[in-house]
Amino acid sequence: MDCVKLVLFCMLYPFLCQLVFSSSLPHLCPKHQALALLQFKHMFTINPNASGDCYDSITDLSWNKSTDCCSWDGVYCDEVTGQVIELDLSCCGLQGKFYTNSSLFQLSNLKRLDLSYNDFSGSLISAKFGELSSLTDLDLSYSSFTGVIPSEISRLSKLQVLHIRSVDPYVLRLRPYNFELLLKNLTQLRELGLYSVNISSIIPLNFSSYLTSLWLQRTLLRGVLPERVFHLSNLEYLDLSSNSLTGPIPSNVSGLQNLQFLFLSSNYLNGTIPSSIFSLPSLEWLDLSNNSFSGKIQEFKSNNTLDFVSVKQNQLQGPIPSTVCNLKALRVLDLGSNHLNGKIPHCLGEMSGLQVLGLNNNRLSGTINTTFNTKNRIIIINLYENKLKGKVPPSLINCRNLEFLDLGNNELNDTFPSWLGGLPDLKILSLRSNKLHGPISYSRTNNLFAKIRVIDLSFNGFSGDLPVSLFEIFQAMKIIDENSRTRKYIADYYNGSNANNLIVTTKGLDLELPRVLTTYMIIDLSRNRFEGHIPRSIGDLVGLRMLNLSHNGLEGIIPASFHQLSVLESLDLSSNKIGGEIPQQLASLTFLAVLNLSHNHLVGCIPKGKQFDTFENSSYQGNDGLRGLPLSKDCGGDDGVPQATTAVELDDEEEGDLISWQAVLMGFGCGLVIGLSIIYIMLSAHYPVWFSSMVVKFEHKIDTRMKRY
Ligand SMILES: *[C@@H]1O[C@H](CO)[C@@H](O)[C@H](O)[C@H]1NC(C)=O
Ligand SMILES: *[C@@H]1O[C@H](CO)[C@@H](O)[C@H](O)[C@H]1NC(C)=O
Ligand SMILES: *[C@@H]1O[C@H](CO)[C@@H](O)[C@H](O)[C@H]1NC(C)=O
Ligand SMILES: *[C@@H]1O[C@H](CO)[C@@H](O)[C@H](O)[C@H]1NC(C)=O
Ligand SMILES: *[C@@H]1O[C@H](CO)[C@@H](O)[C@H](O)[C@H]1NC(C)=O
Ligand SMILES: *[C@@H]1O[C@H](CO)[C@@H](O)[C@H](O)[C@H]1NC(C)=O
Ligand SMILES: *[C@@H]1O[C@H](CO)[C@@H](O)[C@H](O)[C@H]1NC(C)=O
Ligand SMILES: *[C@@H]1O[C@H](CO)[C@@H](O)[C@H](O)[C@H]1NC(C)=O
Ligand SMILES: *[C@@H]1O[C@H](CO)[C@@H](O)[C@H](O)[C@H]1NC(C)=O
Ligand SMILES: *[C@@H]1O[C@H](CO)[C@@H](O)[C@H](O)[C@H]1NC(C)=O
Ligand SMILES: *[C@@H]1O[C@H](CO)[C@@H](O)[C@H](O)[C@H]1NC(C)=O
Ligand SMILES: *[C@@H]1O[C@H](CO)[C@@H](O)[C@H](O)[C@H]1NC(C)=O
Repeated sequence: MDCVKLVLFCMLYPFLCQLVFSSSLPHLCPKHQALALLQFKHMFTINPNASGDCYDSITDLSWNKSTDCCSWDGVYCDEVTGQVIELDLSCCGLQGKFYTNSSLFQLSNLKRLDLSYNDFSGSLISAKFGELSSLTDLDLSYSSFTGVIPSEISRLSKLQVLHIRSVDPYVLRLRPYNFELLLKNLTQLRELGLYSVNISSIIPLNFSSYLTSLWLQRTLLRGVLPERVFHLSNLEYLDLSSNSLTGPIPSNVSGLQNLQFLFLSSNYLNGTIPSSIFSLPSLEWLDLSNNSFSGKIQEFKSNNTLDFVSVKQNQLQGPIPSTVCNLKALRVLDLGSNHLNGKIPHCLGEMSGLQVLGLNNNRLSGTINTTFNTKNRIIIINLYENKLKGKVPPSLINCRNLEFLDLGNNELNDTFPSWLGGLPDLKILSLRSNKLHGPISYSRTNNLFAKIRVIDLSFNGFSGDLPVSLFEIFQAMKIIDENSRTRKYIADYYNGSNANNLIVTTKGLDLELPRVLTTYMIIDLSRNRFEGHIPRSIGDLVGLRMLNLSHNGLEGIIPASFHQLSVLESLDLSSNKIGGEIPQQLASLTFLAVLNLSHNHLVGCIPKGKQFDTFENSSYQGNDGLRGLPLSKDCGGDDGVPQATTAVELDDEEEGDLISWQAVLMGFGCGLVIGLSIIYIMLSAHYPVWFSSMVVKFEHKIDTRMKRY
């Protein structure tokens, strides 16, 4: 009776009943598959630290033998047959060799397999992957596989998604013939990601027209970029950057109606950039940087979805079309290092979404007749090396988010724009090599220039006393900041396509600092007409790495307070009228790698020990009163013990004794010289937040394809 009721009920509510019965069944998944999974897991150790790139929480592999394997983390079964059809072991911290006898290959019904972000260092990709013939999705990325990708992969004729991306370039190889086979034979293929795999091939012509994503960055592809690629009407992502590809982009690319990301940077492409690119309806990211494109930048026809445009490092000419302001969604515009001329479009200051503007290293002229309105959200402005005249545009004060401003190497004629100090987030300011003039007077108002880390006013006509009060308000420089080497993956991923490079001069060399230098603190006031004394308060800017006051008319002495600049790497006070002795306390500056005190009126003995034993003659020449090593003039055989100080600064002297003792006690072992090259490895938190989330989103998009629907 009851049973009849239940059967009747079940005829009416079949789904509910299936649920009731199935949850009471002890083992849905076949025992041998559960066993195979456990055996597979036991071939590895689990090191949660191994997955440094896993931004999601790590998958838990504490699989419980006494429960149904279909309920284990990362394991998914067919609802009817109970067979394991999907295994998502991405970010599991698996560590060890992946042998070809692995029990994983017993799971012959697998449709989706994701082993990305583990550590199988030194393992080859087994040919047995080619036997998992039901696979539609396979991801072996970033798990340190090495060697040749077996040709058997191209037997997986149901494959729709294949990712074998690698961090280390070229440790994985795909034979050119197998690449062709893969594209030809896998007719269902939609996504192919082979970052940093050595393919060394031309792009074959015959491939699946279903392709939506082609990620072939840094794969040693070469030859002419085939027109056929631009006829793949389903394409959403195309990344062929950092290869050796030549030839033009075909003039009509309007077939790419679904294209969202186009990355062709760092190739040898030439010809003009077709106007049809700028009117693709779905395009969001366009990176054509570091190629040989020439001709004019075409008009931007409509307001479209473009979010990111970089065409930097090409040979583009002519003016910047003001239709660029139609791009309402644009956040990054990088046109740097081309031959662009004409004026900066007035309307740029009205683009309310723009965050990065790179127009550096062009031939732009006229005044900066751009009025930045109060709605703008710009973070980075780089106009370095153009022919811009007139004044620093006062409307910059409306850029409340501005962190980076480089107006260097132009022909600006103005007094010091002290009002820039009111920009609350300004970190890097370069006005070098312009025609700026007049004294810099400054009221001691707090919270002005509070976050400044790099200020470069060199090669101008500034005069008057060094601006003492200015140094006093640089709050950010009063701390030593060593802990910002973050977001490396963004810098790596994005590999130099941002706008905010900065040129600084040290020891007569122009160095191009990469975009990432907010940890680096620099004051460069060299080659002006500053007079007066060097303020002692500079000694409070303990975060300084580089100080250049050379080629001015400075007098007085070197303040002993400089010994507090404990991370200083470069000090240039040359070609001034500085007198007195070199403070012995400077011997405690163990990071000092570059010292130039030449052409002053210094006297007395050169300090001894530590870094001072490494400097050459040239650091001191042109000071007639200096004695001691490395100069030939002997210092009286007193082993460098300081002479009675002739200089003033009595209070510093007391402190000075203390420091000398400290220096003696520290003795040896502190000679580590961190040269200027450190700049190149410094990475910062300089990217806008959206940028990192964008990159994460972007990577995540690929990764989530593998996850359950
Ligand atoms: C993981 O990292 C933590 C902290 O960084 C460390 O204490 C621990 O020893 C590491 N474990 C392994 C297995 O490397
Ligand atoms: C495994 O599952 C059984 C049954 O659900 C449970 O009794 C046992 O505590 C679980 N073991 C672990 C280690 O979680
Ligand atoms: C798998 O192969 C490796 C190396 O060839 C060997 O050390 C290991 O014992 C084998 N495992 C099994 C279960 O056969
Ligand atoms: C190409 O795919 C077919 C199935 O469509 C498969 O039988 C064949 O082995 C594959 N060829 C190669 C060389 O992998
Ligand atoms: C790439 O692979 C080819 C063989 O296919 C080899 O000749 C070449 O040296 C490899 N290049 C690199 C950079 O590993
Ligand atoms: C591409 O391959 C298909 C089937 O394998 C073939 O019919 C076609 O002719 C090929 N096209 C080219 C351009 O090789
Ligand atoms: C560009 O190509 C599309 C198809 O890909 C075609 O419909 C359109 O007419 C072409 N436009 C021009 C100007 O040739
Ligand atoms: C520009 O592209 C060339 C050729 O691919 C490459 O060698 C070079 O490193 C790239 N430069 C930058 C700054 O990315
Ligand atoms: C592009 O480069 C090729 C050589 O790689 C050259 O033959 C061709 O003339 C160039 N085209 C343009 C428009 O510069
Ligand atoms: C820009 O696009 C928006 C929506 O995408 C639309 O409402 C607006 O009319 C467009 N403006 C122009 C000038 O085309
Ligand atoms: C600045 O631009 C505006 C708008 O384009 C124009 O009216 C004005 O004449 C320009 N001023 C200068 C000095 O070029
Ligand atoms: C700067 O402009 C003023 C006029 O505003 C002019 O007298 C002076 O010569 C200019 N300075 C330079 C260095 O061009």
